[in-house]
Amino acid sequence: MTTTRQIRQLVAGTWTGEPATERRNPADPGDLVSVTASGDAGLVDEAVAAAAAAQPAWAALPGPARGRVLTGAGELLSARLEEAARDLTREEGKTLAEARGEVQRAADVLRFFGGEGWRSAGDVYPSSVPSTLTYTRKEPVGVVAAITPWNFPIAIPAWKIAPALVAGNAVVLKPAGLTTVSTWHLARALVDAGLPSGVLNLVHGSGALLGDALVSHRDVAAVTFTGSTAVGLAIQAGAAARRARVQTEMGGKNALVVLDDADPAVAARIAAAGGFALTGQACTATSRVVCTPGIAEAFTAALVEEARRYTPGDGLADGVLMGPVVSEAQLATDRSYLRIAEEDGGEVLAGRDAGDGLFQPPAVVTGVRPDHRIAREEVFGPVVSVLPATDLDEAIDIVNGVDYGLTAGLVSNDLRAVHRFVERAQAGVVKINRPTSGLDLNVPFGGVKDSSTNTYREQGAAAVDFFTWVKSVYVGHD
Ligand code: UN1
Repeated sequence: MTTTRQIRQLVAGTWTGEPATERRNPADPGDLVSVTASGDAGLVDEAVAAAAAAQPAWAALPGPARGRVLTGAGELLSARLEEAARDLTREEGKTLAEARGEVQRAADVLRFFGGEGWRSAGDVYPSSVPSTLTYTRKEPVGVVAAITPWNFPIAIPAWKIAPALVAGNAVVLKPAGLTTVSTWHLARALVDAGLPSGVLNLVHGSGALLGDALVSHRDVAAVTFTGSTAVGLAIQAGAAARRARVQTEMGGKNALVVLDDADPAVAARIAAAGGFALTGQACTATSRVVCTPGIAEAFTAALVEEARRYTPGDGLADGVLMGPVVSEAQLATDRSYLRIAEEDGGEVLAGRDAGDGLFQPPAVVTGVRPDHRIAREEVFGPVVSVLPATDLDEAIDIVNGVDYGLTAGLVSNDLRAVHRFVERAQAGVVKINRPTSGLDLNVPFGGVKDSSTNTYREQGAAAVDFFTWVKSVYVGHD
């Protein structure tokens, strides 16, 4: 149950490197979860070379054969769900229920893209010239670098590498240093399902060092990244400088609007599920709630009540709805934002009474104005600010008045308000009467403004577009 995992690099089908970097369970420092090898730019060169060497033969396989490997990996991951979920909770902190859901989602992603191996690889067009067949082929870009965060340590790598692989690319994956075990489970499932050597390579080490080496490598055709806006914008600039394809999913400051017609208890449950589940550590998390005057008071009281249910604890324990914060650094960020909120004139109604360890109780902040830092900057913790608005239009202005545009939510059954909100919200995902976080794997996902490169979407069949280019073919046959 409490095995310490030894995590190595995966290059050209061989697990290499001496494990060196320790990771302890954020809920239990006595639990040494993993020791992970650490590589440098030379390792990146080896991994990219291995990927480049393996890619042509992989791309030459029929799509259904590539898909079969992904489907098989999905089956293996499902069979190992409990083991992988426990490791995920131990290294990242989220509750076991959340971790089980995430591993299940990764397995489903693998199966979904396994199925894509059977589906359309292009289109046929009517030709303007007699006896001419005109069609397109989706060609793989070649070698893809994927750089992934700690907050969904198995689902995000899965939804980046599965569409890349099924389209015939080879991948070098650099997962977050805090959560190497989850990514190892994913890689192991693919290797055990028969993925040829070198088609997936896994590199561990300093994010800045390996990330720079991948982004600047001339044999890396495309870089897909999920993480902070600061890092994402730097990656975007680096990739653009050498005209490599780049896709980034970055921060959010997602708002939920609650209108007078809503049931305050229902709205508070939706806000808490979006803001406090996953310890608020999702780029899709709710961090602002904008209320119209008739419901503000009742909603705020109900949200404070909800916050009590999310008392943080060890994610492996029964009945715990919220796990610890992932690290000391993230906890310090969460707490510094509560101080900043108070200095700007806000009032912290819950979440001030933190105990020992990496546990941050859910925080509800009122008296917040749209220009306060707590209402503009991403915290990445269980902190929800409540802001007043006189009516729907002012609420929408507040929703849109930040640099981010990832997800936005509305709680209301007023049909006109719903459609006005859907039309005007500047966000890649809009959710009505549902939490702002929680996505379906078959639906395109991405943001606008500083949340995303806003070019190619992730997830669903559309995800394959980023990893392919279109070749147009004209065949005369007269
Ligand atoms: C979800 O809300 O289901 O890093 C997933 C993140 C996002 C994924 C959110 N890229 O939080």
